[in-house]
Amino acid sequence: MTPIEQRQAAAELETLAAQIAHHNRLYHTDDTPEVSDAEYDALVRRNAELEQQFPHLIREDSPSGIVGAAPAAHLAKVRHRQPMLSLENAFSDAEVAEFVARIRRFLSLPADAEVALTAEPKIDGLSCSLRYEKGVLVLAATRGDGTTGEDVTLNARTIQDIPQTLCSGEGRSVAGQRPALRASPEHVIPDVFEVRGEVYMSKEDFAALNARLLAEADDPEKARQFANPRNAAAGSLRQKDPAITAARPLRFYAHGWGETSALPGETQFDVMQAISAWGIPIALDLVRSADPAEILAHYRAIEAKRADLGFDIDGVVYKVDRLDLQARLGFVSRAPRWALAHKFPAEKAETLLEAIDIQVGRTGKLTPVARLKPVSVGGVTVTNATLHNADEIARLGVRPGDRVRIQRAGDVIPQVLENLTPDADLPAYEFPTRCPECDSEAVREEGEVDIRCTGGLICPAQRVERLRHFVSRHALDIEGLGITNIESFFRDGLVQSPADIFTLTKEALLARERWAEISAQNLIDAIGAKRRPPLDRFLFALGIRHVGEVTARDLARRYRSWAGFEEVIGRAIAARVDLPQALAESDEKHRQRRNAAAAAAIETSGIGGEVAGALCDFFEEPHNRAVLADLFAAGLVPDDLVWETKQSPVTGKTLVFTGSLETLSRDEAKAQAEKLGAKVSGSVSAKTDMVIAGPGAGSKLKKAQDLGVEVITEPEWNALVTDATT
Ligand code: IVH
Repeated sequence: MTPIEQRQAAAELETLAAQIAHHNRLYHTDDTPEVSDAEYDALVRRNAELEQQFPHLIREDSPSGIVGAAPAAHLAKVRHRQPMLSLENAFSDAEVAEFVARIRRFLSLPADAEVALTAEPKIDGLSCSLRYEKGVLVLAATRGDGTTGEDVTLNARTIQDIPQTLCSGEGRSVAGQRPALRASPEHVIPDVFEVRGEVYMSKEDFAALNARLLAEADDPEKARQFANPRNAAAGSLRQKDPAITAARPLRFYAHGWGETSALPGETQFDVMQAISAWGIPIALDLVRSADPAEILAHYRAIEAKRADLGFDIDGVVYKVDRLDLQARLGFVSRAPRWALAHKFPAEKAETLLEAIDIQVGRTGKLTPVARLKPVSVGGVTVTNATLHNADEIARLGVRPGDRVRIQRAGDVIPQVLENLTPDADLPAYEFPTRCPECDSEAVREEGEVDIRCTGGLICPAQRVERLRHFVSRHALDIEGLGITNIESFFRDGLVQSPADIFTLTKEALLARERWAEISAQNLIDAIGAKRRPPLDRFLFALGIRHVGEVTARDLARRYRSWAGFEEVIGRAIAARVDLPQALAESDEKHRQRRNAAAAAAIETSGIGGEVAGALCDFFEEPHNRAVLADLFAAGLVPDDLVWETKQSPVTGKTLVFTGSLETLSRDEAKAQAEKLGAKVSGSVSAKTDMVIAGPGAGSKLKKAQDLGVEVITEPEWNALVTDATT
């Protein structure tokens, strides 16, 4: 292994950690995934591969040690008595065989020893832990980050599949088709039993919910629509108001358990039967077999009826049946060695590529979209697919008129996989060299894959897209100002830049067709209500390249006020300007070095060179500064972010973690400290208020002792966090 390889691996692991954390946040906290499960899984696998190859390069913030993302802010937090775990994935029969072989090796069993497994569908929902004490439901919690979830007890009580008390009568199951089980003596209900399973929504209920949300919305363009049943289930369960959850058709099925005072069986299969007998649905398709061929046949059988199941599943989960073996196998990072998720491949179909349309985005990016002859893929009718960029069109060699194979994975935009009618004699598709909207030249910047319209603010498509983004639901969220109004106001010259929205008058609206006293007043009021947007929404609304909702929130939390933010951007710009290009330094290297300097000035975790550079570019651009000045002149005032930090013994203090932590990752410890209003530093100095020292602490601990800084242990830290947060 050469040092170069190592350096590349380390750099890739760093990128993967950031990417996976980003996607975790989008998926678990914001319910707005950007990539398919398959793409996400590919990142996780690549990370695991590199970690296996270079174990000494495993990072402290390695994604393999983190499950999901932190819980949402508004629900009370619950620390799981036993962590809620994740699953390792497999995509081929060979990987399943390797899973069984690994189990045998770990347990030192002969190569032909029987290992019975259970197999059941992997439902695409949201995991939930239900705690029953003396048979009575006392707590329901989401997974959250695996260690701490959210208290959703009141919401879970509204779900029909979740009994308030466990019964010792007849069992139920998904769709109620399993022959009812009679509770037998071994099904006696233990004092404490945490049922773990999946809250989900059927495809039919999901479609009806979206239709209802659309019908109920004041402004159909801004109607809340869930991207898929999983997001709908998550959004419905994690509500502050249980009445909203009650109105949503949620379902539950159990697939395991957490803390228990006693177990009603010695195998996975038997305990699941007991859970079913207590009245909680379990998977209809739960089987047990020691024959690998039978297990794989079950996988194929489930895959074959996937589209007819009525709810989304994305694979089959195998578990070692004997609980004594499960206990011996234990866990690797956050996934059990005794379980495996065998994922289904993405669903595919063939159809005709009717046309290639070019869409112009907010930043001028030209995105080719394949218009398809409607085709059903896994029960969903697909009419469009992304072609990403010019390179992708060239790689696929597709032209309008070709037959193509497409793929739909999870909830992301379908993709074109392959041209089924390649013909080298026919001319290739020519990507436009001019913007289809404003006819400006379309160019590809050096080192970029995207082709962009150079029209900037003369391009009507870009301007309208920016305005649309400015008022969109996650930005300023101005009710009654959707794309139709924005487009017509723009076309007629009424609104050309964001500030014009705030100087709109009722008279100007009344002078237009189809506007009356009440509708005009409503819009003026809706605009007036958004004159003080929260800082994070305002930053997102500006449409700065690379600044999505999550980054905008991170920046707002870090700087709290517009003034604070503006000041740091000033410092970042100055830090970039001060860096002349070195002799023999390439333009790209220079750009990266300047951006890194800007990122250092911004010092916000998660904000690297690319984002810092984009922020500087935006604020250096005179036109953008003029837009901001106009907005402020029109009376817009971004509201400071009041970020609740609990008062705790460490609020406002500087802490240092040293030594190895045994129950927490460094990241989690840091996040806990920050939530309590403390700052975490990497080195001990006279400014340090407290050191949390784990085993193996060395020079930092010694220095703290020399300086007389308070030193506590990890268990003491955990107790402090629990006291401060409960
Ligand atoms: S077992 C100890 N079984 O998938 C392992 N999980 O990707 C706990 N899931 O967090 C999970 N169906 O929320 C298991 N039949 C099933 C499942 C299942 C869905 C979810 C579960 C888990 C996630 C891991």
